[in-house]
Amino acid sequence: MKSLLLQILFPIQGDRLLADTTKRIIKEHRNKSQDRVYLKIVDLKIDRHLNNPFFNTCQENLFMKYKRILVTGGAGFLGSHLCDRLIDQGHDVLCLDNLFTGSKDNIRHLIANPHFEFIRHDIIHPIYLEVDEIYNLACPASPVHYQYNPIKTIKTSVMGAINTLGLAKRVKATILQASTSEVYGDPEMHPQKEEYWGRVNPIGIRSCYDEGKRAAECLMMDYHRQNGVRVKIVRIFNTYGPRMAEGDGRVISNFILQALKGQDITIYGDGTQTRSFCYVDDLVEGMMRMMATSDEVHGPVNLGNPCEFTIIELAETIIRLTGSQSKIIHTPLPQDDPKQRQPDITCAKRLLDWEPKIHLEEGLSKTIHYFQTTYGG
Ligand SMILES: NC(=O)c1ccc[n+]([C@@H]2O[C@H](COP(=O)([O-])OP(=O)(O)OC[C@H]3O[C@@H](n4cnc5c(N)ncnc54)[C@H](O)[C@@H]3O)[C@@H](O)[C@H]2O)c1
Repeated sequence: MKSLLLQILFPIQGDRLLADTTKRIIKEHRNKSQDRVYLKIVDLKIDRHLNNPFFNTCQENLFMKYKRILVTGGAGFLGSHLCDRLIDQGHDVLCLDNLFTGSKDNIRHLIANPHFEFIRHDIIHPIYLEVDEIYNLACPASPVHYQYNPIKTIKTSVMGAINTLGLAKRVKATILQASTSEVYGDPEMHPQKEEYWGRVNPIGIRSCYDEGKRAAECLMMDYHRQNGVRVKIVRIFNTYGPRMAEGDGRVISNFILQALKGQDITIYGDGTQTRSFCYVDDLVEGMMRMMATSDEVHGPVNLGNPCEFTIIELAETIIRLTGSQSKIIHTPLPQDDPKQRQPDITCAKRLLDWEPKIHLEEGLSKTIHYFQTTYGG
């Protein structure tokens, strides 16, 4: 017996009409064959169909709560993993990216999937789409990339937020903003809780990113208060895993590549500054749980791994796992480099029942494997 996926698009049809139309289509199909019929409902207001008696009595059909989901920055490191998970769950995914730091290689395996669509677009310009949910990830995330064109970076955060929020408002979609621990700046509070307002240098070389993300958070809350847009803000702490870009200057990819090539491992300062590292699968799970929260939950919610390591410890672990002969050397600390960074995830545990599951060594091994197979070494 074959399966037929019946995809129904709903512009404005009411429940009654929906039930009648669907019944008729299924009946006609059954008259022709014995195939099992699966229903896929594509509707901005999917919830209104859940109480429809027709679907509750339609035993042999599988009613699936699929959504159309926009992921801006979907060809980047985090975005591509998020696209994978959303596709796995059966959703239709629109991946929007200008490929500034992202790559088609990250999404190549999804291109042939009929539920996946790539849109090459710069989010500083408005876009008109019909979607149920928006994950707004578009923004260069590593200092090398966001300092390359700082004006463009802040435009991406601010105009990107305005354009995705405008879209969310128009189509009544829920929007999740990928904010960052950088909104805390060089914090006096350790670990950082969401209530802490941060200590950010507004005129430094990292400000284009930090202040851009702070402005994006502000816009999220203003669109919510002024226009009733359903918004969710997550503050992401250092995340790592396969598909991090080579040469983006992030500490884990730097160290792994240096170790694999047998080069010196460069540590900024004395290496006693601490960081916490979250594996990408854990992070994506946290973002999706945040999106699934009820309307009154907006965040911000910290997402990251609270286990803290010094940069020296990280370098030594990577040298051990790669079996490298690399030596550790020290270079001056860059401007505004925070000394400590550790999330307080009490809020994520309470609201999302979430905490990271993947140990640093396990995540590092998977990441090392990716860099070995992708870049050799
Ligand atoms: N990875 C982390 O540790 C981390 C930490 C905190 C916050 N974040 C946030 O998560 C998001 C994703 O980060 P990532 O690590 O995947 O970085 P990334 O650079 O791999 O991904 C960003 C994506 O956005 C795209 N992009 C950039 N400017 C754009 C524009 N104007 N229009 C359309 N697309 C654009 C890039 O091409 C890229 O694919 C970013 O918003 C970042 O600030 C990441």
